[in-house]
Amino acid sequence: MLQDDRRDALVAQVCAAHDATRAVPARAADYGEEGDFYPADWVAPYIDRRRQNGWSLYDLLGIGKGEKDKMHAQVQRNYRFFDAPVGLMFTVDRVMGRGSLIDYGMFMQNVMLAARARGLHTCPQAAWNYYAKIILPFIGASADEKLVCGMALGYADESAPVNTLHTPRETVESFARWV
Ligand SMILES: Cc1cc2nc3c(=O)[nH]c(=O)nc-3n(C[C@H](O)[C@H](O)[C@H](O)COP(=O)(O)O)c2cc1C
Repeated sequence: MLQDDRRDALVAQVCAAHDATRAVPARAADYGEEGDFYPADWVAPYIDRRRQNGWSLYDLLGIGKGEKDKMHAQVQRNYRFFDAPVGLMFTVDRVMGRGSLIDYGMFMQNVMLAARARGLHTCPQAAWNYYAKIILPFIGASADEKLVCGMALGYADESAPVNTLHTPRETVESFARWV
């Protein structure tokens, strides 16, 4: 868990790395670990949903196609924990397999639900994974640990337009099969 000076120090390091990657994209390899967090090649319908959610978000924020500075700044809000005062980093032992990541997702959702029960809000953030090589040593992780996800914890500004985004939901018929 990161708060105060340690939170701010990590934010400064990762934001600097994010800017450096924009200037020299090849630097991404210095910061992120090899992995299969997302597919190397997205396919329909997932890529379409992803794009739809992305453009809905940018519409709300008034970011148009090609506005690269605004997009960079918006992505960088991830690396400021969206201004939340508390950042959480979740790691898992590298020897654990896919089953443990299922457990881990449930654990993370329990953290999110417990936060809601106390009036707090969270945002799970895969975005931090691109900077795992900075984060793991920063938080004192051993060589046996890999980064699963980051998470912002705080109170959402419910009046902010960005927090009015409601992503569409598939119908139950589209993903459940009755046999
Ligand atoms: C595993 C996971 C990783 C996520 N990573 C990010 C992220 O890096 N940045 C971000 O803004 N939101 C992230 N999100 C939050 C999604 O953007 C959020 O779920 C989205 O706004 C859709 O809202 P919904 O969950 O209500 O459909 C993540 C969510 C999950 C479950």
